[in-house]
Amino acid sequence: MNQINITPKDISRIFWELIYGTEENFSPLDRANLLNTISKLDILRYQEIADESSQAEVRLHYNETTGSTTPAQAIGLYYITKYFRPLRVIEIGTWIGKSTVSIASAIDTYSQAGEIVTCDVTNDIKIPFEGKTKITQFPKQDSNQMLQQLSGTYDLVFIDGKIMHKDIPLLKNLITPKTIFVIDDFEGLAKGVENVSILRDKIDLLKSHYLIMPPNEKILNDHRFKTTSTTAVIVPMKTFTLAVSH
Ligand SMILES: C[S@@+](CC[C@H](N)C(=O)[O-])C[C@H]1O[C@@H](n2cnc3c(N)ncnc32)[C@H](O)[C@@H]1O
Repeated sequence: MNQINITPKDISRIFWELIYGTEENFSPLDRANLLNTISKLDILRYQEIADESSQAEVRLHYNETTGSTTPAQAIGLYYITKYFRPLRVIEIGTWIGKSTVSIASAIDTYSQAGEIVTCDVTNDIKIPFEGKTKITQFPKQDSNQMLQQLSGTYDLVFIDGKIMHKDIPLLKNLITPKTIFVIDDFEGLAKGVENVSILRDKIDLLKSHYLIMPPNEKILNDHRFKTTSTTAVIVPMKTFTLAVSH
């Protein structure tokens, strides 16, 4: 009998269709509100430039192709969060906080006890957020400095900066087999590809996890996004079950 081979590409497509499909629980008004809230954060880009001219140099060292979160990515992060319901989140790369606010806004919909810790080595921009989720910023600190100060375990790690090899032993102590990793800039030679390679190479736990490639243009177009997304996700195999109807 022939078998059906389900490829990583198939799994990624199904994953994003499910994630963006959660839109059914998300009214058009909510979507517009989130996009409106994060677009207001764009003004913070100019605050950074006014603060320090040498930041571009530091930024280049850690992260060559910087940019903030696109609407498709912001809503993707919001949906991923709503889907997996993490309570404790680590973020590496705050910058103007579009991703932080997207995750925090999602946590706010199901819990009053959520917390996000977030660091950025090049700036100290204060993220305005009035929701319930507690955001603790580690301004002008790199991932290694922040990770050294954390304890307990985290449910989701969002990486939008460039991780360092010395971060790995610290990260290992802060995750569980259920922790989900979301990695931005997963395309070509961008930092996300290197981040994924370091994580999967150095953290044994993640060897048995599944790598979800970024959503393709068709999925995004189907959900009315004009922007792209380079968000990859590393999820435990157990995330997937085969539902059989009797
Ligand atoms: C693409 S931007 C982040 C955009 C942000 N998530 C947003 O939505 O506005 C990447 C940021 O990560 C910071 N960064 C890169 N590597 C880092 C590291 N190892 N630790 C802390 N920050 C880092 C850079 O300074 C840069 O500001």
